[in-house]
Amino acid sequence: MAAGDGRAMCGNETGTVLTEGDGAVLLCGPGAARAGFSKGAAMAAERRLNVAVIGLGMGRGHLRGYRDYERSAVVAVCDKDPDRLRDRGLAEAGLSEDRCYTDYRRLLADAKALGLGAVSVALPNCLHAPVTLAAIKAGLHVLCEKPMAMNARQARAMLAAATKARRTLMINFSYRFTDQARALKRRVDEGAIGEVYFGRSAWHRRRGLPGFGGWFGQKALSGGGPIIDLGVHRLDLAMWLMGNPRPVTVSGGTYDRIGSALAKRRRKTFDVEDLGCAMIRFDSGATLLLEASWAGHTDKAEDMITQLWGTRGGVIHRNVGEGYDFEARLITEAGEALWDSRLLQPTGPASSAYQEFVDAVLDRREPIATGRHGLDVQLILDAIYKSAATGREVRIRR
Ligand SMILES: NC(=O)c1ccc[n+]([C@@H]2O[C@H](COP(=O)([O-])OP(=O)(O)OC[C@H]3O[C@@H](n4cnc5c(N)ncnc54)[C@H](O)[C@@H]3O)[C@@H](O)[C@H]2O)c1
Repeated sequence: MAAGDGRAMCGNETGTVLTEGDGAVLLCGPGAARAGFSKGAAMAAERRLNVAVIGLGMGRGHLRGYRDYERSAVVAVCDKDPDRLRDRGLAEAGLSEDRCYTDYRRLLADAKALGLGAVSVALPNCLHAPVTLAAIKAGLHVLCEKPMAMNARQARAMLAAATKARRTLMINFSYRFTDQARALKRRVDEGAIGEVYFGRSAWHRRRGLPGFGGWFGQKALSGGGPIIDLGVHRLDLAMWLMGNPRPVTVSGGTYDRIGSALAKRRRKTFDVEDLGCAMIRFDSGATLLLEASWAGHTDKAEDMITQLWGTRGGVIHRNVGEGYDFEARLITEAGEALWDSRLLQPTGPASSAYQEFVDAVLDRREPIATGRHGLDVQLILDAIYKSAATGREVRIRR
């Protein structure tokens, strides 16, 4: 698959440039006024972020997210798998062959020609750091899938590079963007549950080893098992609801009592945990219990919960049945009675993670899920694995 066709009229500095995409000339941001357009005309012009999606598994969701939003357009995709490129890039996204890349380095080399402003990195975990760093070097903003990286050392390098280059780096902590999580966050921030002192966040699967035998179960490619894959979501959600307190100490345990045995029988590779757990203390004085598993002797096939206890109330974010619909509940005390209220539906606007990323870049503001949040989560994940290996509590150094 070939490079771009060089139709962009000028560089990729979002918010300041004039670009041509899909045959339309788009005027972008403050640079428009400087380029000689009247202030009114510049303000009226719609700004649009040109994005490329790298990795078309979960990246398919990114594709749809950007395509459904009027402020963004997908101008290229990349996947080393030609079948996925054909099905999802050519057929589904309707891109021409020269916009479908098998090598992300060639895509990044064509960034200017494509009028690219940003990339989504939806690759196996081992590629998050190298591809994000290369994209930032190419002058691009990045939405990186969770976990931010394989370890905190990589995450720190990503954050430093983005900060130095003044590029937006957002981590796709997608569970924050459920209606239920947003509604709960708002109530917690309004003080509805008072001071949070305890939480429990868990995601258990009865038998749900992703891509069994593939990269998810290989430590060198994934960084770990369900703790880094599922636990990362539940950890982030709890921390976000708590107001992102600073983690101080971690005591963790990991087990592989089912995964390896299954792998041996089926001649697959599996060298990560199948269950992990941790107790995390924060500088706020609060404690959080975290649990995650891909396999276990439990009743529900898929079981997710994030629950916080506060001085005036509590919140619960939990999946309904065994699926991916959620309920949100707020427990409060009023009139000498305890109340249990459930969210029926949000009545305000909601945006997806992809819209949030695009808005943050175009409006030049921090996204909701920052690289700093990603690094704090990664420091805890590292500490869980270290604590599990040493049998000791680990102190976190930021
Ligand atoms: N936020 C969420 O809710 C969510 C959900 C699922 C997965 N994820 C994350 O998304 C990432 C990808 O997971 P997935 O489930 O899509 O995995 P996947 O294996 O299904 O997809 C990864 C894709 O990357 C491609 N790829 C691999 N190496 C490549 C390379 N060098 N160059 C170009 N393409 C390459 C593969 O061909 C594949 O199509 C992971 O980090 C995972 O944790 C996040």
